[in-house]
Amino acid sequence: MYCVRNITEDLYWVGGNDRRLALFENIHPIEKGVSYNSYLLLDKKTVLFDTVDWSICRQFLENIQAVLGDRPLDYMVINHMEPDHAACIEEIILRYPDVKIICTEKAFMFMNQFGFHIDGKVMKVKEGDTMSFGKHNVVFVSAPMVHWPEAMVTYDATDGVLFSADAFGSFRSLDGKLFNDEVNFDRDWIDEARRYYTNIVGKYGPHVQALLKKASTIDIKIICPLHGLVWRNNFGYLLGKYDKWSRYEPEEKGVMIVYGTMYGNTEAAANDLATRLAKKGMTNIVMYDVSKTHVSYLISETFKYSHVVLASVTYNLKIYPPMLNYIMDMKALNVQKRTFGLIENGSWAPQSDKLMRELLNEMKDITVLDNEISVNSSMKEQDVDSMESLADSIIESMK
Ligand code: FEO
Repeated sequence: MYCVRNITEDLYWVGGNDRRLALFENIHPIEKGVSYNSYLLLDKKTVLFDTVDWSICRQFLENIQAVLGDRPLDYMVINHMEPDHAACIEEIILRYPDVKIICTEKAFMFMNQFGFHIDGKVMKVKEGDTMSFGKHNVVFVSAPMVHWPEAMVTYDATDGVLFSADAFGSFRSLDGKLFNDEVNFDRDWIDEARRYYTNIVGKYGPHVQALLKKASTIDIKIICPLHGLVWRNNFGYLLGKYDKWSRYEPEEKGVMIVYGTMYGNTEAAANDLATRLAKKGMTNIVMYDVSKTHVSYLISETFKYSHVVLASVTYNLKIYPPMLNYIMDMKALNVQKRTFGLIENGSWAPQSDKLMRELLNEMKDITVLDNEISVNSSMKEQDVDSMESLADSIIESMK
């Protein structure tokens, strides 16, 4: 059975949801599912904007068939070639053999790399090229590294619709609701939107800034991303979040404490710090066990808070492996502009403070507080002064 929704009078959402997939990109858990959005325009010409992941191809084809009826499909605009959107290109060609593909030169190269049979079907476009499908006039705008180098977005100037590719997307299935004003975004969606952005596109902040700059010059009435909700109002909220994330500015003054503990002693030290902070009035505190929290959640929260405390046991004379993985992911995603505090633990030859400090100091615009807290196996009275001092330093650095 087809399942589609109108966005405007002649534009339809023809995508679908995957609630079965455990790991997006085979890395990121998606307990709440994900949507793959595709859009179909019925103008003088018919135009499909991107395809979907292979997992929902059957639903997608039924949707297209239902909206097109007896009309042929004239064009397929491919804004992004990652297979979660491009997997069904050949299937569309098989069913609509006269379709022309509109894409960038790099997307064409990727189609060949992925082994697609597209000979004679591709119309290459570049930054600023325009095209009319009848009533609708579109302009193609390159958006390299948001999130792959071939990416572009397409702006329909007639209705003010921005087909934004991965930009402004989110994890989470749509569950019948398609528009941002059909959900309580700040309550139910923001965490999954942030986790999507930070882990998928987070590395490319300057490229997102470049796209936001271009977006500020056009009159946007609707944003149609490839995942998550379609936005038709409250753009200031969404663009504000993207602006913060892509500048690597924290959303909130607060402390995220991430601890790596084997037998609970490092966790106890982390609890002690959290309690001291709260007693001093800094109550915006979250705590995560690095071993049981998937790193994609840690990254998302790192983008949210201004301060991060890493409390790590020493393991094989190195940083505890799950903590090392988290730090390396922060580095890979270009986390910047944060203040870090450190707590190390070790029963003999504790090393994790020194090693974490070295890695953090390689990151851009990072402050690592001077306080050194070296717990020997378990926190004791003799550690109280230094823990108190770390709490004071954190609060002082927030002023
Ligand atoms: Fe949802 Fe970069 O693909």
